[in-house]
Amino acid sequence: MSRDLRGWIEEVELKAPGELLRVKRSVAPDRFEPTALLEQLEDRGEYPAVLFERITNLKGEPTPFMALMNVFGNPRKIGLAMGLAEPAGRAELFQTYLRRAAQPRKVQVVAPGEAPAKEVVVRGRDLDLAALPFFRHNYMEGGPYFTGIVGARALDSQRYNISWNRMMYLDATHMATYMSPRHLWSHFYEAEEQGQALPGALVLGHHPGFHLASAALTTLNDDEYEVAGGVLGEPLRVTPSEAYGEALLVPADAEVLIEGEIVPHRRTIEGPYGEFTGYTGPERLSWLFEVKALSMRRDAIFIEIFGSHRDNMAAHFPIEAHIYDRVRHAVPTVKDLCWIESGGPHNLIISIKKRIEGEPLRAAMAAIAASNFIKHVIVVDEDIDPGDLREVSWALATRFQAEDDLTVLKGMQGHVLDPSLRHEIRGSGMVLDCTVPLDRPYPRRARVPKDVRERMPLGEYLPDR
Ligand SMILES: Cc1cc2nc3c(=O)[nH]c(=O)nc-3n(C[C@H](O)[C@H](O)[C@H](O)COP(=O)(O)O)c2cc1C
Repeated sequence: MSRDLRGWIEEVELKAPGELLRVKRSVAPDRFEPTALLEQLEDRGEYPAVLFERITNLKGEPTPFMALMNVFGNPRKIGLAMGLAEPAGRAELFQTYLRRAAQPRKVQVVAPGEAPAKEVVVRGRDLDLAALPFFRHNYMEGGPYFTGIVGARALDSQRYNISWNRMMYLDATHMATYMSPRHLWSHFYEAEEQGQALPGALVLGHHPGFHLASAALTTLNDDEYEVAGGVLGEPLRVTPSEAYGEALLVPADAEVLIEGEIVPHRRTIEGPYGEFTGYTGPERLSWLFEVKALSMRRDAIFIEIFGSHRDNMAAHFPIEAHIYDRVRHAVPTVKDLCWIESGGPHNLIISIKKRIEGEPLRAAMAAIAASNFIKHVIVVDEDIDPGDLREVSWALATRFQAEDDLTVLKGMQGHVLDPSLRHEIRGSGMVLDCTVPLDRPYPRRARVPKDVRERMPLGEYLPDR
């Protein structure tokens, strides 16, 4: 059987039961109800995936659908998205992801009759997006949304691109989407220059490995359906689309596919929207997606990301893995790094085994060059866990002198969603070198001897612990 969302849910309930909870009472996604529960869990430091078994549509009617949220909420679930049975440390997760993404697999084309995503097909006058369970996540959002994956390819190429693109409901057959200037955006502009629309399919609900692969940092030469196959560990099964036939192949094992096109020479209002920065981003003039066909499983499970909260940051994991890879090329003795769990979308903490002076700055520059998400880098020694902010703060307190160890970087390319930018895109950054200097003796950490700790297990002296 091919990898799909249903198989994944079964696997998680078997391997890691506490990581997936079920809500049986009916909730209204367009009235903030799923996210109201998720935010309460988050306030308690809990990030289980939650399957909402009964959800209503935009008309307030009951539906046969379910919604799965918080799929990526914590590192354990990033491992589960890649099928890892046991919990793994960050560095192991990075290496697993990088190894798989570097082994792309050719797609397997199947007939529409073999595609579970085609159990129900809706076209023409029967199309009505309001029959679907769109979501409002946060106060002040401009409309109900889906946060899904757009599968598309450049008009003159066989290469497929997959990227996360939110879609705001407009009417029965239209949504407004936001594209930052990356691959999908450039495919669209090429099409628009020729006066053509860009066909694509919004994928809502597939194996989380597919969703993870959608944030891969690739080049325009890489086929991202093939990269998704690498991350999944098996070829992605695809099938001809309803609206465009073989000219647009769509994932056969998806839960829901909304096929359509980004319309040339038309723009529409989109937003406000709760961005990954934790702030509500502004209303913008964005792009119009016109729906041509809908296909889905009868009892489809929609994956939705909890915008602006941990789930949203965590879904960027591939970018964190690529940053790790770039740092490793610059400083092979990098031990670990922590971007997503550091709590700030533009802060990165790197731990290295420093061999010579200058390596901390080199590691930091490699990370900053790898991604314009990164603004502040704190470099610590290998004895500091970059995921433990108390440890990091202790290193900053005791191994750092601002006069010598702070490097301020001016004129950097910032991230357009960073609300602290004073210019449209140009910003500044800094590197804090909190490593111990190599050229003079440094005091040792005050710790109890290791061998004594080892021969005195806590449980033997304090049985309740
Ligand atoms: C949960 C999530 C939501 C995202 N939403 C959007 C979005 O609405 N628009 C956008 O341009 N990028 C969004 N991104 C970022 C891109 O999907 C991501 O950077 C992707 O790698 C871009 O792919 P591409 O360069 O192949 O187009 C989102 C990322 C995540 C993880």
